[in-house]
Amino acid sequence: MGFEGKVALVTGSSRGIGKAIALGLGRGGAEVVVHYKQRQPEAESVVDEIERSGGRGIALQADLEDPEQIDSLFGEVRERYGRLDVFVSNAGASAFKSLGEYRPHHLQRTFALNVQAFVLGGQHAADLMRSGGRILVISSYGSQRAFATYANLGSAKAALEAWVRFMATEYGPRGITVNAVSGGLIETDSLHYFYSQPGIPPMETVVRRIPLRKVGTMDDMASAALFLLSDLAGYITGTTLVVDGGLSIVSPPFAEEGVVQSRERG
Ligand SMILES: NC(=O)c1ccc[n+]([C@@H]2O[C@H](COP(=O)([O-])OP(=O)(O)OC[C@H]3O[C@@H](n4cnc5c(N)ncnc54)[C@H](OP(=O)(O)O)[C@@H]3O)[C@@H](O)[C@H]2O)c1
Repeated sequence: MGFEGKVALVTGSSRGIGKAIALGLGRGGAEVVVHYKQRQPEAESVVDEIERSGGRGIALQADLEDPEQIDSLFGEVRERYGRLDVFVSNAGASAFKSLGEYRPHHLQRTFALNVQAFVLGGQHAADLMRSGGRILVISSYGSQRAFATYANLGSAKAALEAWVRFMATEYGPRGITVNAVSGGLIETDSLHYFYSQPGIPPMETVVRRIPLRKVGTMDDMASAALFLLSDLAGYITGTTLVVDGGLSIVSPPFAEEGVVQSRERG
């Protein structure tokens, strides 16, 4: 897929979707910077796995809510490699609350990690991409759809998808593509955390409305990401590729519920 000899940075790749993307890049022959915030042992074990599959990597720490730590992370990439070919802005987190509960620090922290880190990281990455490159960010269906407790992160994801279009336009003439992969329900720690929150119905009530009737895997997300990062996607930029089993294309009325109700009436 054209990853041999490329230098790639994947934020939040100590676990979850970022880890699956980092492993895929490593298997393809890229030199991968595995970034983490606090789980150093997990990040080191991702590097080990990359090296066992024949690739190379290092683990670097930064709290991406802090612009100075973003500068230091990219400074270290510049010092070690002198360039960057692939930047995946994957790290994400938020506080899940109803609208009246949000305080300024919730809004600021979610914006800092999910939007600001992508924009500042994208600036650094573009500076380090001397002969084209790939920038990718991970979004979610909350960018387009509204559901309980997700307003803060969903609106940050919507902002990301807009930034993708502006960055693609400005960086395109330099041979840099900028895209997003938007996930539905993906099997990770954070999915189970979300569905354990008070007021959130059981995950099964959502899964039965997904046309493919199942939760996606980290590898489903990584496959889409690796495609957009590869030579196969050289003419694709400014777009969001949706990986959600069809969740975001459906709407009520749901046929299954109609059947249940008519049986009850009968
Ligand atoms: N899971 C889903 O269902 C789903 C669906 C659609 C989109 N997404 C998106 O996919 C991305 C990855 O999600 P995930 O579920 O795989 O995540 P996850 O398992 O919760 O892992 C989060 C990663 O981000 C890092 N991180 C957290 N806070 C950070 C901070 N302040 N600074 C730097 N790094 C930080 C973590 O580092 P440590 O390990 O060191 O803590 C970890 O590597 C996110 O953008 C998420 O919104 C997820």
